[in-house]
Amino acid sequence: MADIFAVGVVGAGIMGGGLAEVAARGGHDVVLHSRTRHGAEAALATIVAGLDRQIAKGRSTIDERQAIVGRIGITDSLDDLADCDLVIESVVEDLATKKLLFAELDAVVKQSAILATNTSTLPVVDIAMSTRRPELVCGIHFFNPAATMRLVEVVQPITASAETINRAVAFAERCGKQAITVQDHAGFVVNALLFPYLNAAIRMLERGTADMEAIDTAMCGGCGFPMGPFALLDLVGLDTSLAILDALYAESADAGCAAAPTLRRMVSAGRLGRKTGRGFYQY
Ligand SMILES: NC(=O)c1ccc[n+]([C@@H]2O[C@H](COP(=O)([O-])OP(=O)(O)OC[C@H]3O[C@@H](n4cnc5c(N)ncnc54)[C@H](O)[C@@H]3O)[C@@H](O)[C@H]2O)c1
Repeated sequence: MADIFAVGVVGAGIMGGGLAEVAARGGHDVVLHSRTRHGAEAALATIVAGLDRQIAKGRSTIDERQAIVGRIGITDSLDDLADCDLVIESVVEDLATKKLLFAELDAVVKQSAILATNTSTLPVVDIAMSTRRPELVCGIHFFNPAATMRLVEVVQPITASAETINRAVAFAERCGKQAITVQDHAGFVVNALLFPYLNAAIRMLERGTADMEAIDTAMCGGCGFPMGPFALLDLVGLDTSLAILDALYAESADAGCAAAPTLRRMVSAGRLGRKTGRGFYQY
């Protein structure tokens, strides 16, 4: 089984920067791609600021920060990913965008490389079939924040080879994560169970059962969850949350996955959560 040394990360939003940090922490050489040089620089600055906070709390050292940052290069050109052994895509949760990107990656990244998607719900097989190497395409789904959440879902579309899945699992474990292998069904395990609950919380708010703070307080105090549904929706991003629910509904036709109207309207209004400073809460 060929080892993975060099890792490309495409997309420098909430998840992309975290993925670059995790891969570098696991000892890989990382190239972080954003469409603009400025986007890549901003993501790297966020990584450095996060590591500085860890040092201030006594959880990391300057040497460790230097080692991690020293392994991360940034670029705005996909050509710079040509020699990577693995490229993980983490751009906007939109199937057409991801398919186009995978066709581009397929043309520039060496033929033996694995191309993986960090999609939360979209059909990985459709993404795989936009390349000429579907046997080398899988999902490697990290959780938010990537640096601290332990789980990774390795998603196996019917087109992926067993070796691709084994290499993806080995990569996740080298990054210090706990990997589970899951079939290519919308939402995989975690989001298929989580998002009907988050959607139900919005519908409960719409009905007026309780206000948002009370619902969040209830689920923390009553279920021991680290955060309530509205704080979590804001953390994930409301646009991403809507895309996840739409993908779940498209596959299951389950009424519980039909996105609550409030969510759709908030996305239309540009209230996307923490990343835009306003979602259910103000930041
Ligand atoms: N937010 C989460 O909690 C979370 C958790 C796990 C997985 N994911 C998945 O990770 C991926 C990225 O999500 P995120 O939360 O980082 O989103 P984000 O909105 O923070 O970032 C999206 C990134 O995609 C880029 N982008 C937008 N349109 C593009 C295009 N046409 N071509 C190329 N790049 C484009 C943006 O510039 C941005 O850097 C999604 O597939 C999402 O489902 C998100």
